[in-house]
Amino acid sequence: MPADVNHPPDVVRFPEDYSVHAAAFLREEILRAIAVRGFCRLALSGGNTPRAIHEELVRIGGDIAWNHVQISFGDERCVPPDHADSNYRMARESLLDLVPIPPGNVFRIRGEIDPEAATREYEAKLAAVAARSGEPRYVHDVLLLGLGEDGHTASLFPGSPALDERDRNVLPVIGPKPPPQRVTMTFPLINCARHVCFLVSGTSKREVVEQVLAGDPRHPASRVRAARVTWLVQ
Ligand code: 6PG
Repeated sequence: MPADVNHPPDVVRFPEDYSVHAAAFLREEILRAIAVRGFCRLALSGGNTPRAIHEELVRIGGDIAWNHVQISFGDERCVPPDHADSNYRMARESLLDLVPIPPGNVFRIRGEIDPEAATREYEAKLAAVAARSGEPRYVHDVLLLGLGEDGHTASLFPGSPALDERDRNVLPVIGPKPPPQRVTMTFPLINCARHVCFLVSGTSKREVVEQVLAGDPRHPASRVRAARVTWLVQ
């Protein structure tokens, strides 16, 4: 979608019961996508914030046709899927093991193999699904992102060459946040999503959120330009 039709970001503040309200918002977005297109392509974010939101989504999401949800990941740390740092493990424990999503609908980044091989495999998977729909690139309905205090999002960190990628949808990167070796979506893939939702809880990130909303070029998250962007903040 051309950048000029992108709407300014919405900011929705949930000062109390953040995860409860964020999960309720996401449930509506998932239901809406399934109602409109028959399925919801949902990309999960990593880190710690999503865990409580996932758990609440499990609690309130009994009316979601989970067999019509496809799961992808904004990024993954290059560790085995049962490692404490694995974003997949966090998602499996807090969501994927608790709702009836068919295993074939979960597109895991294999953090346990060579990063470039894992990148190519993940990119090819998304491309194959997109091709079956006649799309040039996989279009997420709801793409969840976190935000670091340095303004990173997914595993797109300040100063990374990956910030300037224009063609590839997924790249292996080395980041300052441990574990360093990661696989991440790039802005071409992120920015063709129908709706990006930033999940940012805690007061420590309020200043960086305002800086990103003001377009501060120091912060990678300032480069997110999807058709619709909503900041779910505490
Ligand atoms: C990762 C994430 C990263 C995360 C932010 C926020 O793999 O680390 O994708 O972008 O979302 O760093 O992390 P918290 O939710 O733990 O604050």
